[in-house]
Amino acid sequence: MSITHPGRLDCFHNPLADSQLAYGAARQNILSVARAKNALSTISSWPNYQATALQQLDTMAEAANIAKVYYKDESTRFGLKSFKALGGAYAVTRFLQQHLAQVNGVEPTMEELLSGQFKAQLKDVVVSCATDGNHGRSVAWGAQMFGCQCIIYIHRDVSQGRQAAMEAYAAQVIRITGNYDDSVKQAASDAKQYGRVIISDTSYPGYTEIPANVALGYTVMLAEIVQQLQADVPTHVFVQAGVGGLAAAVCGYFWDLWGQQRPRFVIVEPEQANCLQESAKAGELRVVEGDLDTLMAGLACGEVSQIAWQILAQGADDFITLSEDAIAPSMISLQQHSPSIEAGESAVAGLAAALVAAGNSQWRSALGLDEQSRVLVLGTEGATDPELYQSLVFGISS
Ligand SMILES: Cc1ncc(COP(=O)(O)O)c(C=O)c1O
Repeated sequence: MSITHPGRLDCFHNPLADSQLAYGAARQNILSVARAKNALSTISSWPNYQATALQQLDTMAEAANIAKVYYKDESTRFGLKSFKALGGAYAVTRFLQQHLAQVNGVEPTMEELLSGQFKAQLKDVVVSCATDGNHGRSVAWGAQMFGCQCIIYIHRDVSQGRQAAMEAYAAQVIRITGNYDDSVKQAASDAKQYGRVIISDTSYPGYTEIPANVALGYTVMLAEIVQQLQADVPTHVFVQAGVGGLAAAVCGYFWDLWGQQRPRFVIVEPEQANCLQESAKAGELRVVEGDLDTLMAGLACGEVSQIAWQILAQGADDFITLSEDAIAPSMISLQQHSPSIEAGESAVAGLAAALVAAGNSQWRSALGLDEQSRVLVLGTEGATDPELYQSLVFGISS
């Protein structure tokens, strides 16, 4: 018997999913294990690089009556507290290397870029993006590391704490009145007007190279996981999605690496921001309108990234939504775990969905979970909004 975890799911099995399908050249052009090697060698040469921990949550697995739960804990990533540190900063790196190659005729190595010798040439280059916090923090950090300027757009619901975290890396932060998708549009139109370069984690027709580099940055986390798993290939991966960039990186990397042995791939979204699920149901890209209201700030997106969809449309097995009441109990359980794990609201969506599913016979069978299941989840952030974390986990409000 498994223990019921609070929360509700809406499960949609992808009729286009095909476990026999080869990954193929078109998807490899977006993201591949071969192309991920450069991201690993680049990012592992940055100051203070350390692989984050892969925790095994045995008590939770036992309560859920499944064999294993692996939790990749990104709360310590480069001191930025989320996996997003890998993506935006890597895309800034690649852009600056290519920019300097154009200007000087030769692409600088990572070591040369880090040495600061190009600061004079980079001081007027401006990178920009829209963000709900974590991606912008990464872009700001990368810009500061290499000496270019950074302007970040945030929407009305981004907390003051998240804004301050980006300003701490010397970024100029502009708050707009609309939602996340409005901030994406504003950043793009201002960049066009003022000659800035958009480093976005989401792609659209005609803008794919930089978001593909962002996703390649994320694969560093996946290369670490593969090493840490020591050949114990999971049966399931539950991964949370905003625009789908992370989910596509995970799905694409494991699909390319493990082929038909790859895990069942389950995408998790908030009920009010389920653009991937709606797209899967429609069989084509769909936009979710409205204020995308959810505790899971990093997942509050209404439009799917185009290149992510090229991988997920046939690569994802299931698209599910998770209700808000599942979040705080999972954050508390992780805080009380030994060792204690700091997990933010967006971090626990995959874990919470797996536990909710395992505790309910209908969803358990819909998602193929049983006592043999080895589930991998990605704890994508720590307390990136410290006030909200204190209030959800300890009931302390300031
Ligand atoms: C903590 C966290 N987890 C997951 C995601 C989802 O990533 P994506 O938007 O690439 O789907 C985000 C996005 O910002 C995030 O901040």
